[in-house]
Amino acid sequence: MSNTILVTYATRTGSTKGVAEAIGKTLSESGTLVDVLPMQDVKDIAPYDAVVVGSAIRAAAWLPEAMEFVRTHRAALARRPVAIFAVCMTLAMKKGDYRNQVSQWLAPVRALVNPVSEGLFAGILDISQVPTFSDRLKFRMSVMAGVWSEGDHRDWEAIRAWAAELPAKLQRSNAPDESPFTLR
Ligand SMILES: Cc1cc2nc3c(=O)[nH]c(=O)nc-3n(C[C@H](O)[C@H](O)[C@H](O)COP(=O)(O)O)c2cc1C
Repeated sequence: MSNTILVTYATRTGSTKGVAEAIGKTLSESGTLVDVLPMQDVKDIAPYDAVVVGSAIRAAAWLPEAMEFVRTHRAALARRPVAIFAVCMTLAMKKGDYRNQVSQWLAPVRALVNPVSEGLFAGILDISQVPTFSDRLKFRMSVMAGVWSEGDHRDWEAIRAWAAELPAKLQRSNAPDESPFTLR
């Protein structure tokens, strides 16, 4: 198991923070030392043996600041095991299975890092928090059309189950240059 894991996240309205904290809690329950931090508070990932990076989805993509984080730390991330996750409303849609589609939204992330695992989670729809009138209207119409419902759709069991499998996956990772057990 990795010694110290960073769980870092980008959020606009807080639901991804809750997911990151749940992941961190599960990891720490398995005996791992964990820091859970918003991306803007992470200056250096050198102290960490593995990193879990997650973002809310907007406009079918990770938030720009999350992509920027991965670009900034790309070299350091390549030297340690990385897992990624995304939080979005498409996975709360009432009909159909959209996991493949949501996974495709992470292709730009996979172009920069080589994750050992990807977590795809439903988030929260709180229309009062949607910043523009036109987007609020679109979300209201989609709720009226029965596409999804407002509220907290985070599946804590699924989040915990994904996190519980991370230590083994992060350990098995083939991160090229640096083992999680490298002495510093
Ligand atoms: C302006 C806006 C655009 C969004 N775009 C998408 C999208 O393209 N696909 C999707 O599945 N969810 C989309 N969502 C839903 C968010 O991903 C979801 O509400 C998530 O829980 C927000 O995470 P946060 O609270 O951490 O910011 C969008 C939400 C907003 C407000």
